[in-house]
Amino acid sequence: MPGRKIIKAKNFFEEDFIESLAEVPVEKIESWGADTKLNIVGKPIPRVDGYDKVSGTAKYTFDIKLPHLTYAKILHSPLPHAKIKSIDTRQAKKAPGVLYILTHENCPPIKWWRVTFLFDPHVRNEGDEVACVVATSEKCAEDALKLIKVEYEALPFVIDPEKAMQTDAPRLYDAGNILGGGPSKYARGDVEKGFAEADFIVEDTISTQVEVHNPTEPFCSVVNWDGDQLTVWDSTQTIFGVRSSVAGALEIPESHVRVIKKYMGGGFGSKLEGGKYTVIAAIISREIGRPVKIYFNRKQMNLNAGNRPDSVQKLKAGAKKDGTLTALSHYSHAAVGAHPSGGGCSWPLRAIYKCPNVKVEEYSVMINAGRARPFRAPGHVQGTVGLESIMDELAEKAGLDPLEFRLKNYAEVDPVSNQPYTTKRLREAYLRGSAAIGWNERQNPAGSQPGPVKIGIGMATQIWWGGGGPPAYVTMKMSGDGSVEVLCGTQDIGTGTYTFMAQIAAEVLEIPMEKVTPILGDTAACPYGPTSGGSMTAPSVAPAVRDAAEQMKAKLISGAAALLEVPETELQYKNGVITSIKDAKKTIKIDNIVRRMRLGTLVTTGAREANPVGYQINSFGTQFAKVAVDTETGKVTVLKIVAAHDIGRVLNKMTLENQFHGGIIQGLGFALMEERVIDPNTGLVLTKNLHDYKVPLLLDTPEIEVIIVSDHDPLISNMGVKGIGEPAMIPTPAAITNAVYNAIGVRIKSLPITPDKVLMALQG
Ligand code: MOS
Repeated sequence: MPGRKIIKAKNFFEEDFIESLAEVPVEKIESWGADTKLNIVGKPIPRVDGYDKVSGTAKYTFDIKLPHLTYAKILHSPLPHAKIKSIDTRQAKKAPGVLYILTHENCPPIKWWRVTFLFDPHVRNEGDEVACVVATSEKCAEDALKLIKVEYEALPFVIDPEKAMQTDAPRLYDAGNILGGGPSKYARGDVEKGFAEADFIVEDTISTQVEVHNPTEPFCSVVNWDGDQLTVWDSTQTIFGVRSSVAGALEIPESHVRVIKKYMGGGFGSKLEGGKYTVIAAIISREIGRPVKIYFNRKQMNLNAGNRPDSVQKLKAGAKKDGTLTALSHYSHAAVGAHPSGGGCSWPLRAIYKCPNVKVEEYSVMINAGRARPFRAPGHVQGTVGLESIMDELAEKAGLDPLEFRLKNYAEVDPVSNQPYTTKRLREAYLRGSAAIGWNERQNPAGSQPGPVKIGIGMATQIWWGGGGPPAYVTMKMSGDGSVEVLCGTQDIGTGTYTFMAQIAAEVLEIPMEKVTPILGDTAACPYGPTSGGSMTAPSVAPAVRDAAEQMKAKLISGAAALLEVPETELQYKNGVITSIKDAKKTIKIDNIVRRMRLGTLVTTGAREANPVGYQINSFGTQFAKVAVDTETGKVTVLKIVAAHDIGRVLNKMTLENQFHGGIIQGLGFALMEERVIDPNTGLVLTKNLHDYKVPLLLDTPEIEVIIVSDHDPLISNMGVKGIGEPAMIPTPAAITNAVYNAIGVRIKSLPITPDKVLMALQG
């Protein structure tokens, strides 16, 4: 800057000084744990991307416009199971605007899900891809689809998993319909001995339905080739996953594929893998030399974009008179759809309660329907409904309060690994949550209230992993004006990643948040960042942001020491200004340091450190539901949910509560209304739109109270944060199920709890 006095530092303007600066050992300058007084992290700070979202200026994949853009539409199998005998595209090719048609006849045999192909002439569910038309407009592509003539040989289909498991069932694959040929098993202790020791035993079958993700924003890609470099804009939870999937399918180097995602309207697990649609668009784009846009409509989202598999859970539980669990056994099968995917749901049963004797057997069964995918706490949501139903039944049989019964079987160490937890504050969650819902005022016995509308209270427990871990890298750049960019190749799927990254950088560097710009979702610009799944983004990325910021602070202090000619140990960093402790006149602002270093930009890279060895990392929580059941109409209204959780440290109270609201509402939908329905006579899906597939709306939303009982998990990382996306949903359906029982005194054993089931149950 003109007129400013140049502070002479030794060799400052020499290249070797810059070199030596880079070699300054990086140390943690200042401790910044949960015990330090915090001013930004943890606070309910509005999202940094809030304006873009509410003003409509946020660019989603769908909004990407490129010169000469073309439009792809996919022809889907209208049958649940068939062989394509012939496919005639001659007329469609001549239709106005049509540029290219891809089918199994002209597509390379690209393997998909290991057992099928990008285009497979053996279609195994309604919605499987048959052809793709690319045209100059959407209308032209849609019109041309109707001109493709396909001759199918219809095959016998199976949609009932129990039938699909039988040896004479129609086979989807030569190897049979049971994934892996048999059940996945787990056992500890001696379950028969455990049941023999029990004073009380209950057995029951609990089933849950297929739930479809239905994120607000459908699947969408825009692809463009520039020579042999492919750019993909995709609505995805995993930019690096899409990159490797696309590069692998096309047999090109991953470095030739750039995947970009700035904003997206949810995924819930459906977008944790690269999609066929993206590869199809890329193949055609390369053929025609023009960019291609492809997206799913709502019908396709309901048919072919994944789902939570159903479950039939046969449970048996035994306890002593005093409530001590002696044995738990769990048999289940899940229909995972037409292509391989896992359907196990027993983890909560294995891991929540202290129980020496456990036996599990679970089948994942393929049927002629859309393939399952991970869905917000895969297995745990449905498994918790099963476990917590049987726990309530057992408590009642033993004459114990359901909460006391759970406290009696509290696991002090992980029952699966016998390792200690890094932290576990579930007991506190039980106590505070039960107080907030008014547990002691609930009716006892169940269903004893007079009048047609009965109020019930129920509870359930949650366990999840969500401790995060490496690899996650963050690059931080500080410019000469003191502004900071924070880059990470993860993605914000709507959870608040942009915001907490800015918060952490601002807090460590003690600068206003407005000075920080987070940059995510670009494989070419950002260092590797994790998939946004498993509630792992914040616990993996937040520590890397802190690490990068602390390294930045260390570099700034080194720079200040050289410039001020004061040893680093005699410098104090405060609010972005570095000052000599001994001589207050020796002071410099951090942006000035960057300018004077003539580097233009100061860069650091932070990394997520490994998790501690010998510990089990889990999040814990409990939810209490209060419901009103109208015994004349069968309608269940959820009045209140109290969510009390141990999720380590809170990064942002506002986005945290957003996540809980979303998870609880989604859990309410699973408990009461969401269900994919297939016509058993035709094998066709009946719920292909948001009229027939019911999701909860604002009027269904109860009062929600969120209680966080944890402040920090000092063992897991320098941020002590555990994930919350999945924990928020896991216990909700089970708590509602138990509350309905408490209200009416009859247990509904199959979700969703629709009015017809309530009325039937009441009539015995
Ligand atoms: Mo989640 S099922 O890890 O998006």
